[in-house]
Amino acid sequence: MIIVKTAVDLEGMRASGYVAARVRDAVASSVMPGVTTEELAEYAAEMIKGFGAESAFLGYKGYPSPICVSVNEGVVHGIPGRRRIEVGDVVSIDVGIRHCGYVGDTATTVMVSVRDARVAELVKTTERCLWAAIEQAREGRRLSDISHAIQSTAEAGGFSVVREFVGHGIGREMHEDPQVPNFGRPGCGPVLVAGMTFAIEPMVNMGGPEVEVLGDGWTVVTKDRKYSAHFEHTVAVGKDRAEVLTL
Ligand code: MF3
Ligand code: CO
Ligand code: CO
Repeated sequence: MIIVKTAVDLEGMRASGYVAARVRDAVASSVMPGVTTEELAEYAAEMIKGFGAESAFLGYKGYPSPICVSVNEGVVHGIPGRRRIEVGDVVSIDVGIRHCGYVGDTATTVMVSVRDARVAELVKTTERCLWAAIEQAREGRRLSDISHAIQSTAEAGGFSVVREFVGHGIGREMHEDPQVPNFGRPGCGPVLVAGMTFAIEPMVNMGGPEVEVLGDGWTVVTKDRKYSAHFEHTVAVGKDRAEVLTL
């Protein structure tokens, strides 16, 4: 069942989305050679506390950190640790915030002095996938129009989309109905109604679409160990256009 949010719900979603976006941007700006992913997580924890908010990730199904940091072949759900960021790294930062009773979920991917033009193209294309999808998040479109926008944008660039992990409805819980796949034919699934809120999150690979989960039970990496990028916004479907809650 897709929960359509009221005006009051959306006020709460704006509040949690705002905090999630500020933490995402602050952490992303701190990604530089020599910093450990654990230090990025500590900074996030401090900022979240400063906002009087809570991480939606810490303790979620036993997840041990307030954020996810996924490096290079890391797709999503990388657990921060002692790894040091190096020149040439591609680093995804995923932040989920619970605030005022609602969750905001957002991710970005930053490049650390990347010189490889194809890698830069991957990151740019993944962000373009997200905006092409957001463009579809308006009343009257169908759910799979979002999915199709992502897949077609990624594949037009010669990249592939991950199938095993998907975007999702979001609200009082981080993961609500429906699932929002990053692939599919257009024109299928539920008709979108203003007030539906989704976390749209393209995961795009340089090589094949296949992924695997590492022995820590969380870290998702590409099977071929080629680079992957991830962008995510929490959005509210609107009458004429989406409202991006995590700008
Ligand atoms: N934020 C992720 C998503 O985009 C979920 C993170 S799982 C957690 O859906 F365990 F890290 F919380
Ligand atoms: Co996320
Ligand atoms: Co999400």
